[in-house]
Amino acid sequence: MRKKIVAGNWKMNMELAEGLKFAESIDTYFKAKPSKAEVILCTPFIHLPGVSQVVSKGKVMCGGQNCASEPAGAFTGEVSAAMIKSTGAQFVIIGHSERRSYYHEDDAILNKKTKLAISTGLKVIFCCGEVRQERESGSHLNVVRKQLEDGLFNLSPDEFSKVVIAYEPVWAIGTGLTATPEQAQEMHKYIRDLVKVRYGKDAAENLTILYGGSCKPSNAAEIFSKPDVDGGLIGGASLKKEDFCAIVEAI
Ligand code: PGA
Repeated sequence: MRKKIVAGNWKMNMELAEGLKFAESIDTYFKAKPSKAEVILCTPFIHLPGVSQVVSKGKVMCGGQNCASEPAGAFTGEVSAAMIKSTGAQFVIIGHSERRSYYHEDDAILNKKTKLAISTGLKVIFCCGEVRQERESGSHLNVVRKQLEDGLFNLSPDEFSKVVIAYEPVWAIGTGLTATPEQAQEMHKYIRDLVKVRYGKDAAENLTILYGGSCKPSNAAEIFSKPDVDGGLIGGASLKKEDFCAIVEAI
């Protein structure tokens, strides 16, 4: 049985004390009311050591939102995958559309980051998704196929088993527009079929595929009810405890 996951992507929000307090409150909530989904808090780097201390392992986990493409050395301002792992974090998001567009991260660099992160023992939440024009022109399936082929599909089967894929249509991120449950299901099934061809039936069945893009308590249950949607990657709504907990419970 594949895992259900709801991951919060805090992006560049919350200062240190506020973030630690927030993580602790999420942890307390799920200690009292265990969820069916794994809950992951993807925080800014500075929060990771503290968050991994305040959450009870196994119930709530934490992860980074990016990592360097090189393992170590003279790369001013960068944070390596091994450093993230050394904080107690278990996950890292790679290829978020904000990294792709604002920081010009292409498939080759994302592939390098993914392999490096997995080699340090992190699991990778690999994001893919089309922009609005691509959806409107009908090329969305091809765009996502290319992102997966170039970013992921040279991984060994063992490496691939450490990957969670997040489908995030860029036109739905932070915009209030959400993919319909049918649009999400179509893409998730397409992704699972591609994985089946590349890595086989078991790998495809075991793969967790998250939906992201304006997911909120009012639409989560319907989206999560689709057979190939295994949870969500939540941005804005992950910063509000009631909303985030309600989305986790929608699983
Ligand atoms: P959103 O962001 O939920 O605010 O749309 C999702 C994401 O960027 O991961």
